[in-house]
Amino acid sequence: MALVISHRGANRFAPENTLPAFEKSLALHVDGFENDVHLTKDGLLVVCHDETVDRTSNGTGRICDHTLAELRALDFGGWFSAEFAGTKIPTIEEFFALCDPLRVVNVEIKEAADGTTESAAAVVRIAKQMGVFHKLIISSFDMNTLQACLRADSSTRICYLYAPATSLCEEIVDDPIAVAKQYHLYAYHPMVGMVTRDYIEECHDAGIVVNPWTVNQEHAIAALKDWNSDGVITDCPDLAMQIMYGA
Ligand code: G3P
Ligand code: CA
Repeated sequence: MALVISHRGANRFAPENTLPAFEKSLALHVDGFENDVHLTKDGLLVVCHDETVDRTSNGTGRICDHTLAELRALDFGGWFSAEFAGTKIPTIEEFFALCDPLRVVNVEIKEAADGTTESAAAVVRIAKQMGVFHKLIISSFDMNTLQACLRADSSTRICYLYAPATSLCEEIVDDPIAVAKQYHLYAYHPMVGMVTRDYIEECHDAGIVVNPWTVNQEHAIAALKDWNSDGVITDCPDLAMQIMYGA
């Protein structure tokens, strides 16, 4: 049975990466959430996919150029529908506060514009403070960020995200086990089109977890269930719950 991990919350029911989207996921009884985090100008972590607020709010500019107070003044729901107008950008603390019923909490750390990795230690510290570290997995396309997580706490479960254009992709396709060992990976989070039954088996034989993204098609969800994928990161948590659990 693959864990159903709701990508940016239930983003087809409510604006992505907002508290209503995560609350809707909880109502669907998903196993886990996936989010994306960035550091604000004043060094706080907020939940948002893009580096800028342009697409998902009524503001403009980079998150790292705004303070939390400035970001909280923006509307992160009106772009989605009038029902969600006035929705605020969540802090990571607000996000973690919803995670009690979950089995897994996937924080994706987006690479900072200046290449610094300070958000890594902050995610680990806040997860511990809020009692969710034991269910936390941290993913990133940036290996430096993942290694910074391990420096913050060597028991952090780090997951490398990759697609064909990702820097380590060729090496992983060549020898996923060697790369995982070299970087002390807990999991791979591959783009779903790159995943095969044999790849999952090979990873499992080496003790490596596999959580593909973004798995939205019925046949792909069913195949990953059949192939014993550990999780599916999906925009369709309702469909995935039905396929996994008949819910
Ligand atoms: O975590 C998987 C997936 O979210 C990675 O891509 O762009 O949706 O963050 P993106
Ligand atoms: Ca993501």
